[in-house]
Amino acid sequence: MGGHFWAHIATWTFLCSVRVVRTDQDLEQDFDLNILPDVTKVNISQDEYVRMMTTYLHRLRDSADHDAVVPDLKIFDAEQNTWRRRKKCITRLKFPKMRLNPNTDIEQAELRMLMSEFPDAEAPVIQIYQIIGLRRRRLIEERQAYLSTNASKWCEFDITNGVRAWLLNGDRNFSLELQCSQCNTSVLQPLQVALSILGYSDKRRVRRASPYHDNNQQGGRTDCTTNSAKQRCCRHSLTVSFKDLKVPQISSIIQPKSYEAGFCKGRCPYNYNHATNHSRIQSLVHKLDRKAVPRVCCAPSKLAPLDILRVDPYDFTKLNVEKWDNMRVLECACS
Ligand SMILES: *[C@@H]1O[C@H](CO)[C@@H](O)[C@H](O)[C@H]1NC(C)=O
Ligand SMILES: *[C@@H]1O[C@H](CO)[C@@H](O)[C@H](O)[C@H]1NC(C)=O
Ligand SMILES: *[C@@H]1O[C@H](CO)[C@@H](O)[C@H](O)[C@H]1NC(C)=O
Ligand SMILES: *[C@@H]1O[C@H](CO)[C@@H](O)[C@H](O)[C@H]1NC(C)=O
Ligand SMILES: *[C@@H]1O[C@H](CO)[C@@H](O)[C@H](O)[C@H]1NC(C)=O
Repeated sequence: MGGHFWAHIATWTFLCSVRVVRTDQDLEQDFDLNILPDVTKVNISQDEYVRMMTTYLHRLRDSADHDAVVPDLKIFDAEQNTWRRRKKCITRLKFPKMRLNPNTDIEQAELRMLMSEFPDAEAPVIQIYQIIGLRRRRLIEERQAYLSTNASKWCEFDITNGVRAWLLNGDRNFSLELQCSQCNTSVLQPLQVALSILGYSDKRRVRRASPYHDNNQQGGRTDCTTNSAKQRCCRHSLTVSFKDLKVPQISSIIQPKSYEAGFCKGRCPYNYNHATNHSRIQSLVHKLDRKAVPRVCCAPSKLAPLDILRVDPYDFTKLNVEKWDNMRVLECACS
């Protein structure tokens, strides 16, 4: 009998929690965000990348205020030729048509390649060198690429620093070398190569669209003004870089790479910046009896969404433009 009773409770609880998930939109959305794609399977073609990146940039332009600048997307194709040197296979890529205004401010440069099948290994470590002279090259990126042993596959490398350095030096042609120094036999053979650059055509325009630099927040009502340790509750600035969060699946977020998230911190003295009438009452009760209820604390009182370009969790060959709610703190209050 007892066993039956508990089984009954368990079933009932299960049904209840399912109902809660189904009726609560926020929960359902969070649930969806937990289904992060397996990054080793992601295979986004250049066409899909350009199409969805353009959609994303349009979305930013629509949601940014009028003075803010959204970067432009520029694509450069490579002229390829391959040769061997010191027994190691090296693939050299040249970008002869790459001409950028020297005033361009580079937000991001990505080398995207359709790599032919790679029988050596599924995840070789690939080095990318920038050619800086007749016999000189500089390592600008090294990371594991998820290739396939029996099919071609798209992969991408962040070469922002290389392109920035090239632009600073100016005159020389931009060329790169791909190498897999730990690989034994297979040749790194790109079938298609494109360099995708997000840049601002004029450095002097400093006001930029929100995900990159949070100009919407400059002089926000509750922004911190001083840096003292005993500060009252206010909004501090905090730039979050998705890469630094060290969650591998987060690399399925294509844009933005980082954004101004902000956070709330500070003292909440009696009667200071109450979020709600309830917090006013709670702080009164706290004043009467410190042990009965805790002091109100500094917390976000106004949040804003963030536009995200990411890999479709149900289809590794597609990108989605999404609006994630409550990603940025605009204001803080005692709550
Ligand atoms: C490459 O070399 C490593 C270590 O020497 C070996 O384990 C691996 O099987 C080799 N792969 C191929 C494809 O020869
Ligand atoms: C490639 O190999 C994987 C397993 O390693 C297999 O699932 C897939 O069907 C193969 N693809 C082709 C095109 O042979
Ligand atoms: C990756 O996508 C390309 C088309 O863009 C396709 O030809 C290739 O077979 C795909 N590779 C895998 C491993 O799915
Ligand atoms: C740059 O590329 C052009 C066209 O390929 C070539 O004529 C020129 O010699 C190159 N310059 C340098 C410095 O390599
Ligand atoms: C408290 O309630 C009044 C009456 O509804 C409202 O006007 C006021 O904005 C509320 N104050 C706060 C801080 O929520």
